[in-house]
Amino acid sequence: MKLFDVYPLYDVTPVRAQDVYVYDENGTEFLDLYGGHAVISIGHSHPHYVQKITNQLEQLGFYSNAIQNPLQQQLADAIGEQSCLHAYELFLCSTGAEAIENALKLASFHTQRKKVIAFHNSFHGRTSAAVAVTDNPSINAPLNQQQEVTFLPLNDVEALTNALKTKDYCAVIFEAIQGVGGLDQPSEEFIFAMESLCNQYGSCLIADEVQSGFGRSGTFFAYQHHKISPHIITMAKGMGNGFPIGGILVHPDIKAKYGMLGTTFGGNHLACSASLAVLDVLKEERLQERTAALEHFFREKAQGIQGLKNIKGRGLMLGLEFDFEVATLRKELIYTHHIFTGGSSNKNLIRILPPLTVKEKHFNLFFDALQLALKKIREH
Ligand SMILES: Cc1ncc(COP(=O)(O)O)c(C=O)c1O
Repeated sequence: MKLFDVYPLYDVTPVRAQDVYVYDENGTEFLDLYGGHAVISIGHSHPHYVQKITNQLEQLGFYSNAIQNPLQQQLADAIGEQSCLHAYELFLCSTGAEAIENALKLASFHTQRKKVIAFHNSFHGRTSAAVAVTDNPSINAPLNQQQEVTFLPLNDVEALTNALKTKDYCAVIFEAIQGVGGLDQPSEEFIFAMESLCNQYGSCLIADEVQSGFGRSGTFFAYQHHKISPHIITMAKGMGNGFPIGGILVHPDIKAKYGMLGTTFGGNHLACSASLAVLDVLKEERLQERTAALEHFFREKAQGIQGLKNIKGRGLMLGLEFDFEVATLRKELIYTHHIFTGGSSNKNLIRILPPLTVKEKHFNLFFDALQLALKKIREH
């Protein structure tokens, strides 16, 4: 049987990984500054993570959400403590898109409305409502186009006010740092406006932290660089360090009702153990606290790189924007220098999404390689 061919692939076959390094079947070492798309938070195969999942698997890997699972409460307590969002409530699922679906559905139940506001360049996933609020018509099938979504420019308070005033919208969904879109951030003024306008006109504010959450930006959630209280927060990627787990945090103003959300796999024993291990390591190794210094180091090193237009993002969710398309440069980095980086819908931008355990010496390796790769490209 052939695989359904939906992914353009790099010709690399990782078989093993440790911390910030990935190894292929020939033992070639690759520096992972992509983190498997911002998924690897505490480093590949962290011993505590491996141990905790292994122990859990030996006890009980899975049972359904029809029984008591105290690990879910442990996870809720740990997320509450580390995010300082004690009053919010946790619902668990398995992926980022599923978190978005649940957030939008909940906003719609709560407000009894069905339209959504999303922003230009947004990415929220590939399933039903998630792809409909993603600003990319090429991945939005006719079925998904039935959703009623208004895309607005980031930072346009007037357009947001005019839309919300109609009281037709159940939610405004935003990324505090756009991921796939290329690391743009709404201004602080706009973030405050989103919060107050949603409160004024009865819409839910949804912070999509699927990519930026779990410490990557230097606060637990990226929106927490600004003092606002979204109604719903979505999370996934770094939450499980590779184990599929996602979730939403729900403001206490939104009340739960039996059956309004549900899933077979969400919050299973193994997934909770994986995420609890991630939170243990984040705390123990103070990974979130390290990101500001690493960002500063990265930005300093990036100064003076030829052809660099802009350094974007925050913490360990960073982008280098050049004045040319970077596809060839990224190939040179991966095949000649054995460094994984990320792309984005901005074709001139390299995304840097390393495990949060990355060190300055890894950035030194990257910038040395980048200089050589740029020189080679210029000479051809
Ligand atoms: C901000 C954001 N939201 C949602 C998603 C969808 O997550 P998943 O691919 O786990 O469905 C992504 C994936 O890249 C994302 O970056």
